[in-house]
Amino acid sequence: MTGRREVRVELGERAYDVVIGSGLLADAGALIQARCPTKRAILISDATVAKLHGPAVLRSLAAAGLGNQSLVLPTGEASKNFSELASLLERLLDLEPDRGTVLIALGGGVIGDLVGLAASLLLRGVRFVQIPTTLLAQVDSSVGGKTGVNTRHGKNLIGSFYQPSLVLADIDCLESLPRRELLAGYAEVAKYGLIDDPEFFAWLEAQAPPLIRGDAGLRVRAVEQSVAAKARIVASDERETGARALLNLGHTFAHALEAETGFGTRLLHGEAVAIGMVLAFGLSARIGLCPAGDAERVRAHLAAVGLPVSPRVGGGAISPQALLDRMRQDKKTRDGKLVFILARGIGQAFIARDIAPSAVLDALEAAAMPSA
Ligand SMILES: NC(=O)c1ccc[n+]([C@@H]2O[C@H](COP(=O)([O-])OP(=O)(O)OC[C@H]3O[C@@H](n4cnc5c(N)ncnc54)[C@H](O)[C@@H]3O)[C@@H](O)[C@H]2O)c1
Ligand SMILES: [Zn+2]
Repeated sequence: MTGRREVRVELGERAYDVVIGSGLLADAGALIQARCPTKRAILISDATVAKLHGPAVLRSLAAAGLGNQSLVLPTGEASKNFSELASLLERLLDLEPDRGTVLIALGGGVIGDLVGLAASLLLRGVRFVQIPTTLLAQVDSSVGGKTGVNTRHGKNLIGSFYQPSLVLADIDCLESLPRRELLAGYAEVAKYGLIDDPEFFAWLEAQAPPLIRGDAGLRVRAVEQSVAAKARIVASDERETGARALLNLGHTFAHALEAETGFGTRLLHGEAVAIGMVLAFGLSARIGLCPAGDAERVRAHLAAVGLPVSPRVGGGAISPQALLDRMRQDKKTRDGKLVFILARGIGQAFIARDIAPSAVLDALEAAAMPSA
């Protein structure tokens, strides 16, 4: 049995614990009763996860004497919209919740983001618990309190900062996760090493093969380190006025790649982040900020684990100019200036404002070369 670990997200009166380990679904009821006491919980999941992991959670809620109704949403990013949110809120109200009711988000980032937003709105705010079931959700989206839905203007443009009361990251859930989704989440794990923890990145270089194959001890450690890194950054800048932007390493490129590939299965978010981090280090090296050897280490490691590392994805090249145009249109761009997270080396990321578009285009063209 792998030992359980805990990370506290220090946010004053909004502080909460992230519990990481095996067998947490079976203990969810007791853990929730101990740390977020309630008479009633409503479990919300997507159709895929509800089938795989819903029954274990419902059994444990019942065993802990908790009300255990559940709602199921369609699987996939397309559910993160206003009409699913409205329908979820109406279905929740049908169940006659009160301000003490706790919502439980069981699933990946889609469910976490949607349920978090619903929790912030229902009866002007009820508590919610995240039980993330993808690696991406365990190391990233379930921690930090960003909630949201997509609109025709773009992804995550409507949302709130609303922290969960507890996060239970059960690494056993990762066993049913498709390998491609696991690797996509791994890109965000590697990101924490690249931002400010070179020892963690070196550890990942050594341990990635057994970690990805399924070694429970290594997975707990990787999730714990990632959550601790995110918790530290979020505690210092809950609403992203400064340091929290470092978490967007690789993401300016990634969002442009996702937009060009239609936010679909051609390129998953974490895959786009892997390519984006390679591009961010490539750009940093090209403009003399970062040793070329560090940029190559990033590329080599992500390629070795099986992630895509070049903007030639899904069988087709994506035009560097089209990517640059996307980045200039990005709604988060400030005053038309391109803001990137660049690096002076592995573990030395920083916020770089006003990068010349020509340098970005050069880096994209170099990366799109067949030899890259
Ligand atoms: N709030 C934040 O800070 C934040 C951060 C990063 C990403 N996000 C959001 O997260 C979303 C992406 O999250 P995701 O990658 O987890 O996507 P997801 O929730 O769509 O899950 C990916 C797929 O895996 C399936 N799945 C989930 N758990 C499983 C399991 N244990 N076994 C088998 N299948 C399982 C899901 O049904 C889905 O088909 C995006 O909408 C993104 O905007 C939010
Ligand atoms: Zn991301």
